[in-house]
Parts: sequence; C-alpha cells; structure tokens
Amino acid sequence: MTIQWFPGHMTRARRQIQEKLKLIDLVIELIDARLPLSSRNPMIDEILQGKPRMIIMNKADLADSAVTQQWIAYFKEQGQTALPVDAQTGTGIKDIPVQAKVLLKEKIDRQIAKGIKPRPIRALIVGIPNVGKSTLINRMAGRSVAATGDRPGVTKAQQWIRIGEIELLDTPGILWPKFEDQNVGYRLAVTGAIKEEILNVEDIAFFAVKYLVSYYWDTMAERFELTARPEDSENPDEIVGVMEAIGRKRGCIVSGGRVDLEKASGVLLRELRAGKLGRFSLEAPY
Ligand code: G4P
Repeated sequence: MTIQWFPGHMTRARRQIQEKLKLIDLVIELIDARLPLSSRNPMIDEILQGKPRMIIMNKADLADSAVTQQWIAYFKEQGQTALPVDAQTGTGIKDIPVQAKVLLKEKIDRQIAKGIKPRPIRALIVGIPNVGKSTLINRMAGRSVAATGDRPGVTKAQQWIRIGEIELLDTPGILWPKFEDQNVGYRLAVTGAIKEEILNVEDIAFFAVKYLVSYYWDTMAERFELTARPEDSENPDEIVGVMEAIGRKRGCIVSGGRVDLEKASGVLLRELRAGKLGRFSLEAPY
C-alpha cells in the first residue's frame, strides 16, 4: 500500500500519534533492517517528545546480518536500544517485553518503592507504511487483531492487547517517510515500500543494480550467471549492460533481439524483494 502524503495528512498523522502518547509508557519504533535511516520518519524525535523508545529493526530476515549488527552498535552509541526482528516468523519478538522492562526499569522501581503494584507497560507501535506494523502486532498477539493496510486519518475504536507484561495498542501510528532525498526514495522503492507508479521501474532497478554491483556482486553474478563485472560502477552504460545481461538470462527479449529493460527491471526487483538474491542491506552506518 502506498499513501500519498500531503501536508494535511502529515499534520493529522502527527496529531493522532501525539494524542496516543498520553496513553502510553513506551514507543516501539519500527524500521526496516535493510535501510534503517531511510525507513525512519524525519521528524521522529520531535514527534515522540522524549517518550521512552525501543527501535525494532524489522525484516531482519531479509537484511545482511553483519550490517544489522553494525546498526545495533550504531544505535547503542546513540543511547538507543535496537532489536532485530522478523515479524513474519516471530524471530526476536520474545525480546521485546524483556527490553521494555529494562527501558522502563527506573519508573517501575519508583512505583515499587512507593508500594504501588506496577501496571502493565503500555506501548504503541509506530512506523512508515509497509514496515510491518500490523504483522508485528498480530504476531505478538498470536492472532489477527491489526488490520493490514490501515490509513492515516481513519480512526477506529482502539483496543489494548495484553501480551504478558505489555499492553499494546492494536492500532499502530502511521508515519511518513523522508521525501527530501531522492536516494531515500529509491532505497524505499527497491524494497517495495514505494510503489512503482511513483518512481520509474527502470530507474529503481538501475539504482538497485548499481548498489549490488558495488556491495553484493558475487551473489548477483551467481544468480544471473553474470561474467563481466563493471569496471566502473559510476558508469551508467556499464550498469545498463548488467541490466541487459539479466534481461537476456530471464528471456526478456523483444523483436529484433533487444532486451526489454522494463520487463528485466521488474523481474530483477521481484527476485530481489523475495530474497532470491540472498540477504542484503541498502545502507550501512559507517
Ligand atoms: P504495515 O502495517 O506497517 O503497513 O506493514 P504490514 O504489516 O502490512 O507488512 C507489509 C509487508 O511486509 C507484508 O507483505 C508483510 O508480510 C511483510 N513483512 C512484515 N514483517 C516482515 C518480516 O519481518 N519479514 C519479511 N520477510 N516480511 C515482513 P506483503 O507483500 O504486503 O504481503 P504478504 O507477502 O505477506 O502477502
């Protein structure tokens, strides 16, 4: 699902989250482990107004695990806790309540010292569209409670779901991604978070191939039986040459024997998103 974000949507989305902040102790910020910065909302710190926060690097099953570890260290240096999770299978989700208690320890200890029985930690999941918010809520609840594909501005009666010592709001907070930087748009599009109607499919594939040539050449070469590695990844002709080789390998040929680049781009992106080229990350912290 792609949402067209207009200033009015952003204001409303922000207001909805800030309303919910009054009800909760902890924000669970979902980002995509393959592109931790590009999948973050640009105003997240301002919007959360200092609320305790846990970062969940979702889709960690698709990301390069060595790079994910670098990101965890990066966030730690910034004083933030980040957990790698695969919401689809549930890998890593057991750590969420454990870390929630660690993050709120002082508050819980204060309540205990005052003789108050600590109540469950109330949490809200926030993140940009497609990052896996509904999948995570459903996985944590162990049943289907969050409708996938909800839109900002559409309100429905929200409920608390009790998960051990956490109470989670069943309606996540939807935030907009960064738009200012074109590369951010391309990274999001490579993962499928932005639909191809917004950015041209050949441009998205070009961006992906250029990145893969630099960082994941061996995997790509093996998958598509490529032999000639471009000497200069900054040379557009060489990148297009790789796209053509991929197209030929997949039979994307039009009359006259030319490669149908649009079709080849679609094939490549589908295989990449489905994890057929192995795990990859599109951003590294260092
Ligand atoms: P949202 O609420 O934040 O908008 O995201 P949603 O849960 O709808 O998830 C978006 C897509 O990401 C879904 O795929 C979902 O299955 C997939 N997804 C969520 N978490 C993970 C994860 O940890 N790993 C992987 N590999 N995928 C994840 P979809 O293509 O929209 O649907 P489908 O493929 O499940 O049919």
